[in-house]
Amino acid sequence: MTAQAIVIIGATGDLAQRMLYPSLYFLDSEGLLPPEFRIIGGARSNLTDDDFIARVEASVHDRAEGYFNPQVWERYRRRLGYCVVDAEHPATFHNLATVLGGAREVIFYLSTSPNLYDAISGNLREAELAKADSRVIVEKPIGRDLQSCIEINDALARTFAEREIFRIDHYLGKETVQNLIALRFANTLFEPLWNKVSVEHVQITVGETVGVEGRWGYYNEYGALRDMVQNHVLQLLCLVAMEPPASLDPDSVRNEKVKVLRSLRPIVGRDVEKKTVRGQYRAGVADGASVAGYLDETGGGASDTETFVAVQVNVDNWRWAGVPFYLRTGKRLPSKSSQIVIQFRDVPHSIFAGDDMMANRLTIRLQPEEEIALTLMNKTPSLDGMELRPVALNLSLTDAFRVEAPRRRIAYERLLLEAIKNNQTLFVRRDEAEAAWTWIDAIEAGWSHYGVKPSPYAAGSWGPSGAFALTERNGHSWYE
Ligand code: BG6
Repeated sequence: MTAQAIVIIGATGDLAQRMLYPSLYFLDSEGLLPPEFRIIGGARSNLTDDDFIARVEASVHDRAEGYFNPQVWERYRRRLGYCVVDAEHPATFHNLATVLGGAREVIFYLSTSPNLYDAISGNLREAELAKADSRVIVEKPIGRDLQSCIEINDALARTFAEREIFRIDHYLGKETVQNLIALRFANTLFEPLWNKVSVEHVQITVGETVGVEGRWGYYNEYGALRDMVQNHVLQLLCLVAMEPPASLDPDSVRNEKVKVLRSLRPIVGRDVEKKTVRGQYRAGVADGASVAGYLDETGGGASDTETFVAVQVNVDNWRWAGVPFYLRTGKRLPSKSSQIVIQFRDVPHSIFAGDDMMANRLTIRLQPEEEIALTLMNKTPSLDGMELRPVALNLSLTDAFRVEAPRRRIAYERLLLEAIKNNQTLFVRRDEAEAAWTWIDAIEAGWSHYGVKPSPYAAGSWGPSGAFALTERNGHSWYE
């Protein structure tokens, strides 16, 4: 059941350096890697084991900073090895087989472009590396639309069974995202209220202050809807909206998520103009510094790619009929903050004078701090009169668990650990990825059909004015 090795194909790439080696190192430092577990890098570059180890050391140092421990490193470095692996040269996969020896339950992490998946998995099969007990991890983007997603999934399915395919959405590895499941299903308090009777609307915001950085080539082909909403934001929506699963086993959870995705009301026809907002940042201020606009980063080219998107979506089922879910995400927003807000309904009748009443609100904050806050109406302390004020009942996860100067975990740590343990609960199943694309494709088609172009917004603002109109039209407003 527990893997004996991981092979990272694309071992010299950015993801491997920034996330995978440090994450595996932290797992090792917490004693969570099996004793004989090996980490093999595979890429086209002609590196020796020592070259590879030096690179890994640099990336671990970089990330671990004050948490670097020479003793752990000594243990970790002995797990490392390198093998030249080239999708176009099947013989290199036979070499890989030699390096792996008789290792069982090997995980192949394809940290490469998806258009290499077919060739790589074919080579793994040919070299008899893809055995009944091996598994494969792949990253987003799983396609750019439904059709390309199906092609990628088909390519993987030629070699691996669905129970061996681990599709990563790193948001599912975040602590608070996990906690959302605990909050909903380990407490009786919220469940009776978690529906259209008590909930007025739901907001999901994933804000970033960064721009597209060095990824313009990729990003310009995708845009915020495909890059963030198709995966991370819809996954959050699923966890908020899904029915209680029968258990935490992978299929129970994923069956419920896919039902949500299939209940999303398609945004078709002219609704695309009313229910979606596209934006593109212009020059402005982010994190206190002047920053260039998106088009200035293109190398002079024009672009209709959105760097911001807001959508009003309806989940057409009994639980959520008539409850708007507002989703928004963007680059160069005022803060890196991700949160889910459950806005409860107003009291049906107020017995208090004045208009200070505010309906209860549950905020689940993923970033920057992990926090859950419930806003309740309270009386302000005084002898005379009855003045009310909303007060937040705050649960700071850091304070609650008395973690001193907690190390910010990398979401990949949990995901790699789950893959090592062969548990697919936190990974996206094929039908989920495809259902999400079906819904996204309709919006993309509408934008193109009706010529919906992104509206400009200043870097450091919360998107174009249309995003505010989207909620205000229904008498709601975004919470920052
Ligand atoms: C990635 C997107 O999947 O998630 C990036 O491709 C984005 O564009 C990133 O910046 C955000 O992740 P996080 O964990 O920093 O919120």
